Amino acid sequence: MSVLFQPGKIGKLEVPNRFVRSATYDGCADKQGRVTSAQVSLFEDLAAGGTGLIVTGIAYAHESGRISAYQNSIAEDSCIDGLQQLTAAVHAKGAKIAVQLFHAGREAAGFLKTRNQIAAGPSAAEDDPYFKKKYRSLPQNEIQEIAGAFGAATARAKTAGFDAVQLHAAHAYFIAISRPLIREPDLIRRWKSGDFQTPACISCNKCLEALYQGRALHCAAQKRQSRV
Ligand SMILES: Cc1cc2nc3c(=O)[nH]c(=O)nc-3n(C[C@H](O)[C@H](O)[C@H](O)COP(=O)(O)O)c2cc1C
Ligand code: SF4
Repeated sequence: MSVLFQPGKIGKLEVPNRFVRSATYDGCADKQGRVTSAQVSLFEDLAAGGTGLIVTGIAYAHESGRISAYQNSIAEDSCIDGLQQLTAAVHAKGAKIAVQLFHAGREAAGFLKTRNQIAAGPSAAEDDPYFKKKYRSLPQNEIQEIAGAFGAATARAKTAGFDAVQLHAAHAYFIAISRPLIREPDLIRRWKSGDFQTPACISCNKCLEALYQGRALHCAAQKRQSRV
């Protein structure tokens, strides 16, 4: 039998096979971000269908990072009961389940506007060619509050029976790693050396615009950088 169907390990986590359902937002939460019975069925079917590890869709770790009315929350203790039903349903079918922790950063602007709130991201890039919605940059103390919310969400995930958490770190959300590595290819080495100075990327999307104009990948916001 192919190794794909055989049990394996991701760190200490034992998975029944090598098939992982990548995180997929399902729009099945209720308006408070709680798990619904439709959602439990969806996950139960996936587990019964043989997927070894299922990653949930984006679950907001802090209310300020919510991006949709039907998105799961893991930001309050009151969500734990529903999340527990989800993990129990998956485990009963022999599969494993991870929850994807998420904060939309400035990308929450559209949803938060409907609640008369202004979204916030780590940096403000007013001349972003693609993102025109109003948002503000976060002061240090609020960044720390949100980082703490990820810790609290992880503790809830453990209580609710999840086997793992996955951090959503992409696009121009609160955590993003693709664009910062365009600007600073040596970022990981820098962090490893103990230099945790804030990454220079401000998610202004000018690198994307340059790509669309037919230029090779580079940080288009960085002054006097040699062009490739
Ligand atoms: C309906 C839908 C919802 C998605 N939701 C998420 C999500 O919540 N979090 C995430 O990281 N990726 C999300 N993705 C991206 C998928 O996890 C996956 O990376 C992407 O679909 C590429 O895989 P595929 O080519 O097999 O579809 C979503 C994709 C789809 C189609
Ligand atoms: S142009 Fe540079 S600063 Fe702007 S998003 Fe791209 S990498 Fe980041």
